[in-house]
Amino acid sequence: MKDPVRRAAGILRRGGLVAFPTETVYGLGADAASAKAVARLYAVKGRPAEHPVIVHFSSAESAFAWAREVPPAAQQLAARFWPGPLTLILKRSALAKDFVTGAQDSVGLRVPSHPVARKLLQEFKRGVAAPSANRFGQLSPTSAAHVRADLGAEVDLILEGGDSKVGIESTIVDLSGQGAVLLRPGGIAKSSLEEILSLQEKSAASPRHSGGLERHYAPRTPARLVPSFGLDKAITETNARVAVLAFSRPDERVAVWLRMPREPEGYARRLYAALRELDAAGCALILVEAPPRSPEWAAVRDRLERACAAA
Ligand code: TXA
Ligand code: MG
Repeated sequence: MKDPVRRAAGILRRGGLVAFPTETVYGLGADAASAKAVARLYAVKGRPAEHPVIVHFSSAESAFAWAREVPPAAQQLAARFWPGPLTLILKRSALAKDFVTGAQDSVGLRVPSHPVARKLLQEFKRGVAAPSANRFGQLSPTSAAHVRADLGAEVDLILEGGDSKVGIESTIVDLSGQGAVLLRPGGIAKSSLEEILSLQEKSAASPRHSGGLERHYAPRTPARLVPSFGLDKAITETNARVAVLAFSRPDERVAVWLRMPREPEGYARRLYAALRELDAAGCALILVEAPPRSPEWAAVRDRLERACAAA
């Protein structure tokens, strides 16, 4: 049988949809130059058309062809972190059409490091538009099984690539305006980026992006973030069946309890699979023990806060 990656590239060329592994989360890919393919991608994802999508490439050189200006900071970040979990927002070139940019003047570019993603991008040779391979607003998939459960029949092919190593989405840095703005904390720590440049936090003027919505990356079961000292009380006060995601040891009163690693990389790697497991347990509420407020937990905190934001 034909190599699955070559088959996948053929499907993309014909305007089809391919889910593929990346080091962050699984992506749902379409030919970024095809209006029809991208329209189908948005329909399957259930994503509003005005939200931009990240375009993936096998090299910085091919990615930067989609930008009309590549500031020195972008060159430096790319040299240091690509391939890897970093997305750069740059002023778009004529290659980046309105249907991938949400009609904004910028485009999101990323060169992932997962070997299957790299092979697919090398084989396809062009840009692949890919949001996370889940329905809009819900939990991102970190395994092929997650994608199958979420989108199954609506995807032409799902490439297998094991569990995602990073487990949360890429860090997004906007270099399309003045200075550098951190739009989404993620796979690359802010402190690593700050070895190269100084970052501003995002403001009201920053571009629209769906990961910036208050409730996003969310389980179906209502979820609540509680400080460590309040966990016991929260369990006591809940009259319904609860599921708990925590650092501490299981409490006998709680039927479903997942214990998470005390370091942020390990926590991030397990996060979405853990939330899926708790979501499937049929509880009325998920209680999440809040991680520390220190900077190395920023990306995990961001995802947990959005998962626990009121619907
Ligand atoms: O790790 C990742 O980034 C994964 C994998 C598959 O690469 N992708 C991902 O895509 O998380 P998605 O679409 O779920 O989230 C991409 C975020 C969205 O919040 C989107 O709005 C934002 O990037 N984005 C894309 N292009 C943008 C642009 N031109 N300006 C501002 N935000 C942009
Ligand atoms: Mg997403």
